[in-house]
Amino acid sequence: MKFIKVNNYEELSRTAANFISAQVIVKPNCVLGLATGSTPIGTYKQLIKWYQKGDIDFSNVISINLDEYIGLKGDNEQSYRYFMNTNFFNHINISKDNTFVPSGISEDFDKECEEYDKMIKSFGGIDLQLLGIGVDGHIGFNEPSDVFEKNTHVVTLHKSTIDANSRFFSSPEEVPTKAITMGMTSIMQAKKILLIANGKNKEEILNKALFGPITPKIPASLLQLHSDITVIYSEE
Ligand code: GLP
Repeated sequence: MKFIKVNNYEELSRTAANFISAQVIVKPNCVLGLATGSTPIGTYKQLIKWYQKGDIDFSNVISINLDEYIGLKGDNEQSYRYFMNTNFFNHINISKDNTFVPSGISEDFDKECEEYDKMIKSFGGIDLQLLGIGVDGHIGFNEPSDVFEKNTHVVTLHKSTIDANSRFFSSPEEVPTKAITMGMTSIMQAKKILLIANGKNKEEILNKALFGPITPKIPASLLQLHSDITVIYSEE
């Protein structure tokens, strides 16, 4: 594992964006696994700037997102599809048809989950997976549990996740209680993983996840077994 400690959020965002742009330059038709949350916003902003300068071309990139809230349509401002469009995809030359976010609306979530995994496989897996980390150690929406969930699945969100994410909603009651998330297999099969964490409140869980025992009670702890993982952390 490569651990990079940086001085502030700006540096974290620039370093992560460098990492992602290097991937896109080396393999223009790469598959990027992308994440939501407040942490990657600066990374996306930096990538947009470099795209606008003409330094990166996303026209052949495929993106696959980790998760989505159940019950929210893609045009709902709180949905992760909306987040990705407004914070990233609308500002770069990626083809929207090549951007995948699990659907939060479905008549048959078992089928939706199965198809998401098949779709990831059909692209040959993920080249670079960007991850944030939740305060309870979740990645994507893989919440602490008795087992590592392998495949894309529907999950009931834990109270700490709902509380943490309620800052994006007008009240905690509005936060959906369920989500659909990529499972640990697709994440662990990504050729490279880039985990970014920002702020003192992430320090304890980051330490436990990266240096403590590997346990499904801290889903991110499984990342210790990945052979090509870089972690960028800023205390600020
Ligand atoms: C959400 C997302 C995760 C993200 C986490 C941390 O729960 N599903 O993918 O890593 O939030 O978010 P933040 O970066 O805002 O702390």
